[in-house]
Amino acid sequence: MVISMKGKSKKIIHQMINIRRDLHENPELSGEEYETSKKIQQVLTKYGIPFEAGFAKTGVLGIIKGAKPGKTVALRADIDALPITEQTNLPFSSKMNGKMHACGHDAHTAMLLGAGILLNEVKDSLQGTILLVFQPAEENAPSGGAAKMMEDGVFSTYTPDVIIGQHVWPDLPVGNIGVKPGPIMANSDRFKVVIKGEGGHASMPHQAIDAVIVANQVITSLQTIVSRNVDPVDSAVITIGKIEGGYRYNVIADMVTLEGTVRTFTNETKQLIKEKFYQVVTGIVQSMGAKVEIQYMDGYPATVNTPIWADQIKETATNLFGKNSTPRVEPCMGGEDFGRFLQKYPGVFYWLGTSIGEGQKPLHDPQFMVNEDALPYGIELMAQAAIDILKKLNDKKESVVHE
Ligand code: NI
Repeated sequence: MVISMKGKSKKIIHQMINIRRDLHENPELSGEEYETSKKIQQVLTKYGIPFEAGFAKTGVLGIIKGAKPGKTVALRADIDALPITEQTNLPFSSKMNGKMHACGHDAHTAMLLGAGILLNEVKDSLQGTILLVFQPAEENAPSGGAAKMMEDGVFSTYTPDVIIGQHVWPDLPVGNIGVKPGPIMANSDRFKVVIKGEGGHASMPHQAIDAVIVANQVITSLQTIVSRNVDPVDSAVITIGKIEGGYRYNVIADMVTLEGTVRTFTNETKQLIKEKFYQVVTGIVQSMGAKVEIQYMDGYPATVNTPIWADQIKETATNLFGKNSTPRVEPCMGGEDFGRFLQKYPGVFYWLGTSIGEGQKPLHDPQFMVNEDALPYGIELMAQAAIDILKKLNDKKESVVHE
């Protein structure tokens, strides 16, 4: 029997939008998602979906068991918000000062609940198990909530054969799905460099070691790693996002702190940059007579899609939304905790078009908005992908048995 989710979200969409707006009004930061977790559990309870809670403190695992035993597909949503003050003027703007769902995780949570409700309705026709993974602390790189959930045994009873994650995507229009085999999100490392010179009077530089000048050389030279050491057909980014130092106009600064991030897609390029980073920074600082402390923090690994499951999302999306719904996309340099799940299990991470059109601001912007017209697409695609992938996995298993 072929189960189709096309149009099935209609009857629940109003409620899912209300859930999304309630989460949006009441955002909670990474590791503090207590009320969010309770709300998720309330919805699962209301619809009779069994669950376990408390993974990585606030994480929840919904469990939908089909009529017959079979393979396991996990669907994942992240649930946390960001320390940003919202500036959208939406009627359901954040009520929490300095906290905002500026990455759409409110929509992810509502869509996964919606997909879960639809899948629970057809569970008697399913073979296998579908897991609903509500993950906290995605924004808290590099520790994140994914590894903690797995340490806490989220998959100890049911082990995913495939895991699927989706993310709202402001660069794609509603109705479009962005997916590709291989890397789709980057290795995302973070660094802090403290340069220590010697202070002095602005008029007597010869008696000081000017940490500002040293920092200036370091910043410029770090950019040559990407332009001169990385293979030009590969991609990498080094960004210094914060620089701090100095006291006043006529004092030579004794200390400057630089903070930034390194983004790469392959492990080789990541290691190359990390090594060069240390060489460049220590070499320059020493040559100028200053001292340095380097903290290089390995962050989320690249999110690397399993080719067959990336192709499956394309096929499922095409069946649901038409043949123009999956335009070609290039990988994004953003980091994503989902990469940790994909290091352990095969699966796919895809982007759901949520552009509001003109005036669309990027993810993590205080004016970021999600186009709620995209929610039915996200709900139906997640649910259908789980069904299609389960079917493919079970068919595969049977064909092996028959051989
Ligand atoms: Ni996000």
